[in-house]
Amino acid sequence: MARRDISITITQHILEQQKRENPEATGAFTILLNELVVAAKVISREVNKAGLADILGSTGKVNIQGEQVQKLDQFANQVIIERMQHIGQLCCMGSEEDADLIDIPQRYPKGEYIILFDPLDGSSNIDVNVSIGTIFGIYKKKSKETRIDYLLNDVLQPGRQQVAAGYFIYGSSTMMVYTTGNGTGVHGFTLFPSVGEFLLSHENIRTPEKGKIYSVNEGNYPFWDDKTWKLVDYFKTKDPETKRPYSSRYVGSLVADFHRNLLKGGIFMYPADLKDPKKSTGKLRLMVEANPLAFVVQEAGGYASDGYGPILDIEPTQLHQRVPLYIGSKEDVKLAEQFISGKRTS
Ligand code: AHG
Ligand code: MN
Ligand code: MN
Repeated sequence: MARRDISITITQHILEQQKRENPEATGAFTILLNELVVAAKVISREVNKAGLADILGSTGKVNIQGEQVQKLDQFANQVIIERMQHIGQLCCMGSEEDADLIDIPQRYPKGEYIILFDPLDGSSNIDVNVSIGTIFGIYKKKSKETRIDYLLNDVLQPGRQQVAAGYFIYGSSTMMVYTTGNGTGVHGFTLFPSVGEFLLSHENIRTPEKGKIYSVNEGNYPFWDDKTWKLVDYFKTKDPETKRPYSSRYVGSLVADFHRNLLKGGIFMYPADLKDPKKSTGKLRLMVEANPLAFVVQEAGGYASDGYGPILDIEPTQLHQRVPLYIGSKEDVKLAEQFISGKRTS
């Protein structure tokens, strides 16, 4: 077995990958990802001591999504913005916690990249010591525009255009999982706290073609439509030939549910529901949650769908738009599409 303490660091990995894939690269992208790693280390440190520091609980504010903003949500958001704004590689940022695009202050240079992020995913799990995370997707600007009021079109690109995406998970250990797409693979790094470095621990992650786990908030059952009922019932029905029933696993932090299913196989679902008009298009956010994880899962051999087609092909119209999400092992997600589109009923 490889000795973890001599594995390569995330910085070396990014540098080597850039040299291989893009010899013309200016280093801008490497600088960008590196700074994000630093931000995540700061967030990880704060999450680890959350029970001791006065950082648990709500800020008393409600965000653009209509949700309570936790102190750690706000902290993580600030850390990412403050660290990323000065590096000179970004033209703007978009965060789950901010209604509008975030401009780069005039005193700093601007660059070609755009980062969209969910600073802290799994807010409801912060106060109870359950895994939470940070999700990010990176794009390149298409136009020559630099003024913030005119950049929304550059930001609203389909997920397939991402140049990199990934997540950090603050769990029993802190991990970073990322990909730059195009067959470069999905790679996982574990934070070695005593040396403060992310070391390569999961090289070239491939997700199983079919899993044995379904993950969904089943408390929403009464608010689903008939097609969603049939789909979830399918996973719970006994049929040894197709290895059913599946096991149910639901943490309630998308990153944690996604990460487990990525490694073990299975499907995560957040269907549209009728409980809340805002959720008639699902709860999860296309730009900061669905797209980055869809990019990761595709690169690992899996699939992500809104029930009708690939998440990565959706032409976004709004920064904060929501989307139903079916993501994970390819066979399981394709099957979900058949149920949701009505092509299959049992
Ligand atoms: P966030 O904490 O960034 O607002 O995201 C919460 C999301 C996601 O992490 C999770 O999958 C989902 O909300 C859980 O929602 P329910 O509590 O409705 O199951
Ligand atoms: Mn989230
Ligand atoms: Mn969040």
